[in-house]
Amino acid sequence: MTEALCLWGLTYSGRFAVDAGDLSWRTSGHPLALPGSGAVAEGVWLCLKASASPRLYPGQDPNRGHVSALAFEDSGAAVRALREGLDLLAIAGFERAVFGMDADHVWPGCPIDHPNVEAVLAEAGFEPGGEWFDLERDLGDYRVPDRAARALADSGFIVRRLDPADIGSLDQFLQEEFPGRWRADTLRKAKDDGEPEGVFGLLDGDRVLGFALTQGPTCRRPIGGAVWRLSLGERWGALGPIGVAKSLRGMGLGGALLAHTLDGMRAAGARRTIIDWTTLGSLYGAHGFEVSRRYRGWEARTSR
Ligand SMILES: CC(C)(COP(=O)(O)OP(=O)(O)OC[C@H]1O[C@@H](n2cnc3c(N)ncnc32)[C@H](O)[C@@H]1OP(=O)(O)O)[C@@H](O)C(=O)NCCC(=O)NCCS
Repeated sequence: MTEALCLWGLTYSGRFAVDAGDLSWRTSGHPLALPGSGAVAEGVWLCLKASASPRLYPGQDPNRGHVSALAFEDSGAAVRALREGLDLLAIAGFERAVFGMDADHVWPGCPIDHPNVEAVLAEAGFEPGGEWFDLERDLGDYRVPDRAARALADSGFIVRRLDPADIGSLDQFLQEEFPGRWRADTLRKAKDDGEPEGVFGLLDGDRVLGFALTQGPTCRRPIGGAVWRLSLGERWGALGPIGVAKSLRGMGLGGALLAHTLDGMRAAGARRTIIDWTTLGSLYGAHGFEVSRRYRGWEARTSR
């Protein structure tokens, strides 16, 4: 990992600095890592992953493999490694390859302020696609907007941290509303990692109608945007995914859940907080969040 981490530092700017253990777990140490990839060769670190479906959870394209990590010194060597990687993915049965977006990903796409990496992807046959961003703010002076407080009061629902007794209701909600990756990630935190309090629920009595996954310095297995916690400082926070039941959307309740979750995080000591992999700038912007990192999706056919 030391060599891979050095290459990482050479390829990406400081805001993408990452903890060695995180990087290893999310890439070459991951159960979906493709055998034959993940070692440094000729100054290139390339890690490939299988689709999460059907092995881990439903909802990902089973015909699409992933470039989980790429770091390099020399562009020409990186292009060659990527082309060989596409062959490896083709042999493993994947028709297409996408940069990022893997289960327990480092990121959802290529940082758009790294033209050196995008040029390598283009040269290797990848084509650009959609764009996403992360946002951040310091929660030190965060206050629940009046509108969000009113929406929650009018609904008669509450927002609170979940406890072990809520896991059944949380799972029922997730099965109905978000049965793929969000269910898998959230239940792993709440159940396997024993951190149900990291999940905030929008509740009608004991019934979960919405959820927000949060993370902070005490969580065992940081996922998603928590990968950038080195740049967020010691009292880092991460929020996401967040979602409410389809039947309740557009009534101010998602905003209320967001606001009360942020307030709960602030009260527990969270300061610089990240919301990752989204396009909903106005929803989060209304709560003071500003774009911190931008990504572009890149995809290629594996058979050339
Ligand atoms: C996103 C979500 C939690 C918002 O909850 P909601 O109850 O529908 O949102 P609210 O009624 O509180 O609206 C809050 C604001 O966000 C905006 N907004 C909500 N969902 C939006 C969407 N999908 N696209 C753009 N804006 C959206 C609303 O227009 C509103 O803006 P306004 O205050 O200027 O009117 C909910 O729509 C949801 O669960 N969506 C599916 C899961 C999802 O996409 N989660 C976010 C991933 S980053």
